[in-house]
Amino acid sequence: MPLVTTKDMFAKAYEGGYAIGAFNINNMETIQGIVEAGKLEKAPLILQVSSSARKYANSKYLVKMVQAAVEDSGLPICLHLDHGDSYDLCVDCIKDGFTSVMIDASSHPLAENIKITAEVVKYAHDHGAVVEAELGRLAGVEDNVKVSESDALYTDPEEAAEFVEKTGVDSLAIAIGTSHGAFKFKGDAKLRFDILEKVSELLPKFPIVLHGASSVLPDYVKMVNDFGGAMPGAKGIPEDMLRKASSMAVCKINVDSDLRLAFTAAIRKHFAENPAHFDPRQYLGDGRKLVTECVRHKLVHVLGCAGHAF
Ligand code: G3H
Ligand code: 13P
Ligand code: ZN
Repeated sequence: MPLVTTKDMFAKAYEGGYAIGAFNINNMETIQGIVEAGKLEKAPLILQVSSSARKYANSKYLVKMVQAAVEDSGLPICLHLDHGDSYDLCVDCIKDGFTSVMIDASSHPLAENIKITAEVVKYAHDHGAVVEAELGRLAGVEDNVKVSESDALYTDPEEAAEFVEKTGVDSLAIAIGTSHGAFKFKGDAKLRFDILEKVSELLPKFPIVLHGASSVLPDYVKMVNDFGGAMPGAKGIPEDMLRKASSMAVCKINVDSDLRLAFTAAIRKHFAENPAHFDPRQYLGDGRKLVTECVRHKLVHVLGCAGHAF
């Protein structure tokens, strides 16, 4: 099976009341860790690449490794550009073999966001790819830019409906209180399910995306801190909220911070327990194993997409 788009995955997820996990990739071990979990749980997967990941690893290497993952696993896998910031970047990725791109023009005024998104949609649809866009602004850190909780903007449901109609986009990321990074809330997590509900009333059966949706698993934060790290106050989205969102119109849940945490926690533990080791396969292998464990947990207990690969 070649790389797939998200069209079929999202239609089934919407009907089935579950969500597909979109996991950020930067290197071979993370790809293998995620895909092993998908194999064990028979889950469809979205592997996504940010522009900084593209610079770090070289897009061509990532594409080839993801193609190898498809061949090795036989799973339906979509290769997606995360937070594309320009038309040209989206086009480059589609030319490289990506089956889905996100054009994130959410920092522009609405009319400009609509114009840029519609241009990307035209190119993508002409070339067999699908497009995610964003409306609203999430708090947190993205490409080293920090947006404070007070500067975040919730998505306006009426604008979302207008945006989808005018752009022809295939899915939409909305801001309902999630936030990028490992330090999402000072107090209690609050998600505006009323906004999600209203968006789905105005856009029936339309797939919604949640960014900034890591749960920042406390066990991994503890492991990092126990083995020499310093991440006091790290906090994510409670898993019951993510499960609720998955049962509603949310069809794609983005996870990056949890993978970073799992990878780092395992490597810190490895070095603390094996100070003489210097073969990267030993500690990267532990990182890869904990990524698999983390992703399996999400597929089964948070996203509900285990068993839905075929
Ligand atoms: O939403 C942002 C993702 O976590 C990607 O982060 O740009 O540091 O790769 P990055
Ligand atoms: P987290 O930082 O919560 O993992 O969010 C990742 C994300 O939204 C990638 O686009
Ligand atoms: Zn994001």
